[in-house]
Amino acid sequence: KIKDLRAREIFDSRGNPTVEVDIILESGISGRMMVPSGASTGQFEALELRDGGTRHRGKGVMKAVENANTIIRSALIGQDIEDQAHLDNLMNKIDGTAEKSNLGANAILGASFACIHAAANEAGLPLFRHLAKKYLPAGEELSIPVPMVNIISGGLHAGKNIDLQDFLIIPVSPTSYPEALEMIYNVYWKTREVLIKKGHNAYLLADEGGFGPQLSSNEEALEVLSEVFHQCGYKPHTDVAIALDVASSHFYDAEKNNYRLNSEDRSLSSVEMIDMLEKWTKDHPVISIEDGLAENDWEGWTLLTQRLGKHIQLIGDDLFTTNPARLQKGFDLKAGNSILVKMNQIGTLTETVFTLNMAKNAGFKTIVSARSGETEDATLSDLAVGLNGGQIKIGSVAGSSRLAKYNQLLRINEQLGGKYMGSSVFEF
Ligand code: PGA
Ligand code: ZN
Repeated sequence: KIKDLRAREIFDSRGNPTVEVDIILESGISGRMMVPSGASTGQFEALELRDGGTRHRGKGVMKAVENANTIIRSALIGQDIEDQAHLDNLMNKIDGTAEKSNLGANAILGASFACIHAAANEAGLPLFRHLAKKYLPAGEELSIPVPMVNIISGGLHAGKNIDLQDFLIIPVSPTSYPEALEMIYNVYWKTREVLIKKGHNAYLLADEGGFGPQLSSNEEALEVLSEVFHQCGYKPHTDVAIALDVASSHFYDAEKNNYRLNSEDRSLSSVEMIDMLEKWTKDHPVISIEDGLAENDWEGWTLLTQRLGKHIQLIGDDLFTTNPARLQKGFDLKAGNSILVKMNQIGTLTETVFTLNMAKNAGFKTIVSARSGETEDATLSDLAVGLNGGQIKIGSVAGSSRLAKYNQLLRINEQLGGKYMGSSVFEF
């Protein structure tokens, strides 16, 4: 049973305030969660409650902390820690809004995940095992997910140097997680070398640890990666492939109904965006495209999926916002074939698991993802393994908020005896 809850304001990887929650059980055992925070957020995400005003540039989270320390605390004290669905429903009911705007999704998420941590600790199990026992069919084998790793960044994560948000790599040929990490390491450091040789700044890093060079076009990032693969001796497609997070909602102009590529001084229609992306999948080893079109461009998404969906992973991030109603709309309109799963877009563990399973059951690929604002909390790694998410997106191999997750996967890998999802996970 829950004995106490303590919430506080801490700071994330961008230096912004965020919520941390501790749950203490009657046994004295406890659990802790630090809440992540996005920058290129989707319009349909659950509400992250911030104080406004002048303190911490309006970004303080003292109201959310107070909601947790008073309202959520009194509701949770005395409740059974085993019944996560009940705990989450209780908080949702008290909040009473679809977007969790009364209590704040940051307050609710912190409490929700602190509870599962406490429950796992009480059961004497690592979190990933506890999650698997609770949410996966008995006997299902666990594997380390395949990472999708930021190498070159743009958009809102790198001062809008280029328009697309992320150029990522997917290790294809490695058959174990440590082997995949070695490939990621080699590509990361070779990219630094190649960028510096080309006269770019590769000393300053973007929000998720990728490089943020001032390239002359978006496509140049793809050319840089090809050069890097070549210099590393990796075969494109067979050894290593490219994933894009276009994050196009953030350069879509609703009034003009077009996509504005500022760094190239041109605007594209929905169909022209699809043409460009299709061409890139032919000219470069691109096998995965996230938010290729904007969050409200459903018509475009259906067309994009018709054109590329048979062999390219088309991920909805801002499009679906981990929200079951929006995912259902995606099924109905045949928009996308994969979903990015971000726990703070929806706000509780129970709802995160629901959306992930809904996607899996429909044959969608699932990619469990961090936010651009993170902390040393590594819950996400356990979540991705414990729910057999298949793929994980936690940024680049720079900064402790990122490495906390990669390192946790190394520990889990040891416990799983090296079981790794491998490349079959993103094949169609
Ligand atoms: P965000 O970006 O956390 O800033 O929203 C991550 C992403 O778009 O995948
Ligand atoms: Zn995204």
